[in-house]
Amino acid sequence: MQRDQKLDGLRKTIDEIDSRLIPLFVRRMETATQAAAVKKESGLPVLDAGRERAVTDRAVSSAGDYGDEAASLMRAILTISRQRQNKIIKGEDTGMKKISVINGPNLNLLGTREPEKYGELTLGEINAMIRGEAAALDAECDFFQSNSEGELVTAIQNAANGGGIILNAGAYTHYSIAIRDAIAAAGAPVVEVHLTNVHAREEFRHRSVISAVCKGVVAGFGPYGYILALRALCE
Ligand code: DQA
Repeated sequence: MQRDQKLDGLRKTIDEIDSRLIPLFVRRMETATQAAAVKKESGLPVLDAGRERAVTDRAVSSAGDYGDEAASLMRAILTISRQRQNKIIKGEDTGMKKISVINGPNLNLLGTREPEKYGELTLGEINAMIRGEAAALDAECDFFQSNSEGELVTAIQNAANGGGIILNAGAYTHYSIAIRDAIAAAGAPVVEVHLTNVHAREEFRHRSVISAVCKGVVAGFGPYGYILALRALCE
């Protein structure tokens, strides 16, 4: 009986805490949203890295008094709050990682091009899949496809200072020194992707002139290879 009363009392306290905690959490989100709007109006960047760090350290360390789980929870809350601010100021510097997805010759034909090798998804469908994964990783992607070598070189140059490049250079992989040089000159890490396992195909596909200047290579996993590359770049 006494134990029941004790439990009732504790539950009541939990309910009371929740009734204050949840509105407080919502208020924090709303206040962060207002701050984002003010920053947007005055043209300030979304993230002030120094302040972000100070706010996070302070909150995480006081939550840490209740253990590691509370500290992680606090970190997650602050991340959600920051993502919300980023979304409000989207279009300006969102603080999100920017990844360029570049596809080379004949990849515009995906869906109808040798589907037994390259699968049935179109490039548009693959890109939609990548975009969905990027949202979950707090990253932003832009997409480019060209059949011409020079346009691919220019696309790599344009993406050279971003957060990373996912590149399926198609047949150019096997002989384009111009694309290799563009990758070597880029500051951003480049992941070479192939839908098929090029090493299990004709001998001329075994050689890649770009692998040596790429951060990594993913081949043989179909469209999932682009997702693996994205995850690797967002780590
Ligand atoms: C490819 C493999 C290349 O050898 C081929 O020329 C392509 C596609 C792939 O994704 O498997 O066009 O890069």
